[in-house]
Amino acid sequence: MGLGCGSPTAVASLKKGEVVLDLGSGAGIDVFIAAGKVGPKGKVIGVDMTKEMVTRAKRLARANGFRNVEFRLGEIEKLPVDDSSVDTIISNCVINLSTDKDRVFREAHRVLKPGGRLTVSDIVSEKPVPAALRNDMDAWSACIAGALERRDYLGKMADAGFGKVEVTAERDFYVETVEDGQKHRFLSVTVRAHKPRERRARPAGSGKAA
Ligand SMILES: C[S@@+](CC[C@H](N)C(=O)[O-])C[C@H]1O[C@@H](n2cnc3c(N)ncnc32)[C@H](O)[C@@H]1O
Repeated sequence: MGLGCGSPTAVASLKKGEVVLDLGSGAGIDVFIAAGKVGPKGKVIGVDMTKEMVTRAKRLARANGFRNVEFRLGEIEKLPVDDSSVDTIISNCVINLSTDKDRVFREAHRVLKPGGRLTVSDIVSEKPVPAALRNDMDAWSACIAGALERRDYLGKMADAGFGKVEVTAERDFYVETVEDGQKHRFLSVTVRAHKPRERRARPAGSGKAA
């Protein structure tokens, strides 16, 4: 059961031995793909707020013999994950569903190690989403009501402290026509960003004399 809108694992450059976190892991499809890439010395943690999805993912992990995966019940706005503890974060069609995206990106930044990578596939909108869609629960379930404009989405990543924010893939996702007859185009984008490495403090007295 895959409910994603892109392939973050294809561009996340996952390496053997890495610790990976999947935000909104659902039934676990990207966790299982990532588990093969990081190998037995690596680990992949999936976080999802829906108990049924976590139960389903755990069942699939057991049935398919995955030993390097773990699924945790929790919200991506308040991750049940330690500070600076993961090498890479992936997420597939989830952050659009959050009503506090600033907090999601701040949490992602908190749990990544310095130099860590964030790779997300998600839905963005070409222009502001009209109120008629924003207030429609079916449109939320379809992953379009909560979509931000692309520049706002990328801007929130930068505001949270991420650097080198770049769109690596983009395709049409959906076109919705609302009451006023206007068409609203939604895109699926894959975005990669980095948490900057900590700068080493310069030893006292190493600066140039004034
Ligand atoms: C569209 S599905 C995508 C699932 C998975 N990433 C995939 O590609 O199949 C969205 C998932 O995000 C989870 N989700 C939505 N909002 C969340 C939040 N604020 N915190 C944690 N999980 C959330 C839902 O429970 C659901 O499993």
